[in-house]
Amino acid sequence: MSNTSEFEVKVLVDGEALSHHAAKAIETLAKERVAETGWFNLALSGGSTPKAVYTLLANQREHGDMPWNKTRLFWGDERNCKPDHPDSNYRMVYEALLKNGPVPLENIYPISTAEPTADDCAAKYAKTLHEKIERKKDGFPSFDLILLGIGPDGHTASLFPGTHAPLEMTKTVTTCDPLSFNPAVRPAVDRITITTPVIWRAENVFVLAEGASKKEMLARIFASGPIESELVARLLWRCQGQVRFFIDQAALPQK
Ligand code: 6PG
Repeated sequence: MSNTSEFEVKVLVDGEALSHHAAKAIETLAKERVAETGWFNLALSGGSTPKAVYTLLANQREHGDMPWNKTRLFWGDERNCKPDHPDSNYRMVYEALLKNGPVPLENIYPISTAEPTADDCAAKYAKTLHEKIERKKDGFPSFDLILLGIGPDGHTASLFPGTHAPLEMTKTVTTCDPLSFNPAVRPAVDRITITTPVIWRAENVFVLAEGASKKEMLARIFASGPIESELVARLLWRCQGQVRFFIDQAALPQK
């Protein structure tokens, strides 16, 4: 694929400013996309960084313009655990955003982890994405926005280096057992994740990265050069849509 993205990098003074800026950018984009297409199909990121963004978006005083009735919430990835488990990305979003209720129940599409195997969960979610996301590109569902984080090992979503997951180019959703490559990965559980081709075909990708621990990885992602397979997040260079990084000063690579 010849497409390369021009990364837009927004540097905020600290994590709080990053969260406020990212929440406003999501709200602005949601209004634009609903005005243009009638819906805003959003894939949420897991982990800890986005929780403050979701909490802000739940605040109807600050983000009363967010078109929740026309926003479909999906998850970019999920840990293969029960939805009330502390490691669950669904639970993190429930606590931050869903519990306080601005999102209509019928617009919430979590990755079910109730199927017999992780592969069954992936297949079921792929079916949901194909049914609910009207816009397709080369047969893949095209989100209006995918939120992503960056792991210390360069993973994004649950596409972990050294596993088959980043290399899956035909499925929409796949599984990943990060422990098969790195036993130190935490939480130590297998994952269900959207795939590289789905990320490439999103209209917009927002990457949220906060703190000094992300600095080195961001420097390697921003460095020009061939896509390094072991540094999964460099797949972002091949996104067809607009890729915007929201980082804080602590994560800013030194020139
Ligand atoms: C997950 C996320 C994962 C996360 C990164 C960064 O399920 O954990 O999808 O890709 O975004 O690991 O996590 P932090 O935001 O906690 O640093």
